[in-house]
Amino acid sequence: MEQKNRIVTDHIAMSFQDNVVLQDINVKIEEGEIFGLLGPSGAGKTTLIKILTGQLKQISGTAQVLGMDNRSITREGYAKIGMVLDNTGLYDRLTCWDNLALFTEIYGISKDRIKVVLNKVGLEDATKRSVHKLSKGMKQRLALARAIMHEPEILFLDEPTSGLDPATASYIHQLILEEKGKGTAIFLTTHNMEEATKLCDNVALLNKGQIVEYGYPKNICRKYNFQNKIQLLLKNGESHTLTNDSSSAELIGNYFKNNAVESIHSSEPNLETVFMEITGRRFE
Ligand SMILES: Nc1ncnc2c1ncn2[C@@H]1O[C@H](COP(=O)(O)OP(=O)(O)OP(=O)(O)O)[C@@H](O)[C@H]1O
Ligand SMILES: [Mg+2]
Repeated sequence: MEQKNRIVTDHIAMSFQDNVVLQDINVKIEEGEIFGLLGPSGAGKTTLIKILTGQLKQISGTAQVLGMDNRSITREGYAKIGMVLDNTGLYDRLTCWDNLALFTEIYGISKDRIKVVLNKVGLEDATKRSVHKLSKGMKQRLALARAIMHEPEILFLDEPTSGLDPATASYIHQLILEEKGKGTAIFLTTHNMEEATKLCDNVALLNKGQIVEYGYPKNICRKYNFQNKIQLLLKNGESHTLTNDSSSAELIGNYFKNNAVESIHSSEPNLETVFMEITGRRFE
């Protein structure tokens, strides 16, 4: 079956006065795809999410979100979109249950969903707790519960695991993969390259408002594998760096024949190295 496009942008550009923030942004995100928008602080990631969710209007170009123009998303359209933005927008004085109850009314869905999603994000014991008494990771999970409560077709997640411990981050990764499994298209931003490599079907690297790389993370890394080396670790503790071509075949073959090989692996750069090379900046 042909996959459906959930988001398509065509030459989107954005500026605030004379500050050009986005230029010529072309992305396409399909059903069941996790798309990662990566880039240093100030690159324009949140701005693009705000444009695609109708919170800001681009100065030129067009975007289709679930077949609708992003500048005129209808109420029915918003009922198919979930989002967790960098500021979670939860009501501090209300309990977890009450926060979600407000949204069941906005979305016109059954209150039965509240219990289901609180269980799903592991907050069943915090149902009656006020948001201001939750930890950061709990707030983030509550925000995610709210975003998936109405079973959206697109989920926008702006830095969903920023500042969380590895266990909570991994829990959130599992939830994101579950949503993907249902066919939800997921648009996420992150500064965590490992997270992007693990989760994303496609990533775009945004630098100074322009997409400078776009594709499957492992393919991008391969493209930047200029050295094309192989790392060989021997059982005696020696390590050798060899060129990845036929000239190394005999040597490697001999080590294998003598049962001397502990491990062998290619040495393409990881996404972090690639992106630091392109942007000349760290992803703080
Ligand atoms: N409402 C606004 N008015 C004026 N300038 C803005 C506005 N929103 C964002 N900007 C500017 O647009 C640029 C991109 O900001 P944006 O928040 O999209 O970056 P980001 O990639 O999400 O960064 P971070 O990783 O820090 O979240 C910045 O220079 C920012 O100052
Ligand atoms: Mg941002």
